[in-house]
Amino acid sequence: MKFFADTAEIDEIAELNALGMVDGVTTNPSLIMKSGRDIIEVTREIAAMIDGPVSAEVVATDADTMLTEGRKLAAIAPNIAIKVPLTWDGLKACKRLTGEGHMVNVTLCFSANQALLAAKAGATFISPFIGRLDDINIDGMELIADIRTIYDNYGLETQILAASIRSANHMKEAALIGADVATAPPSVIRKMADHVLTDKGLEGFLKDWEKTGQTIS
Ligand code: G3P
Repeated sequence: MKFFADTAEIDEIAELNALGMVDGVTTNPSLIMKSGRDIIEVTREIAAMIDGPVSAEVVATDADTMLTEGRKLAAIAPNIAIKVPLTWDGLKACKRLTGEGHMVNVTLCFSANQALLAAKAGATFISPFIGRLDDINIDGMELIADIRTIYDNYGLETQILAASIRSANHMKEAALIGADVATAPPSVIRKMADHVLTDKGLEGFLKDWEKTGQTIS
């Protein structure tokens, strides 16, 4: 499973990238607002840092203006994936932009039907939002499983990009189902390393090592 960093914070991306933990980056208008940066500048900086796809989202709601904005975002760097919302206009823009050779990430997906439409429209990535479904007591991970089944039934090539990931458990569950990508805040990716028995075991090793009076030098 590919790991994408779901952030526009340069330092956090750099830290994970140095560990080989960043196969791509996703941003959205809220993450850009949080970064306090200009969208073009910060997207250019991120796209120059990593080789993988960097998703930058249009803010128009009509297809024609999405096309204009999408082409502007795609011109930033060759590894830009244009993010469009899963609306009828977003699907129209997706069809046109993929037809022009751009990568397109169709976002704000909350149903298998929406994901089926995105694949038919030629989406490179589909972003089903797990956490926001969980927030309303609907099993977000079930959506990932449904999309995986449907796409595999028909050999659809759109990559499932599990999004709105809130926990290390979401990462595991998405990997078990076979999501192609999971995009998560860097804090969630870092949390994947945590285990109380690892901490306890290390403490025990070091305590016993101290008794040997040795050093490794
Ligand atoms: O990639 C989408 C993600 O940023 C949304 O996450 O936690 O706001 O639902 P969240």
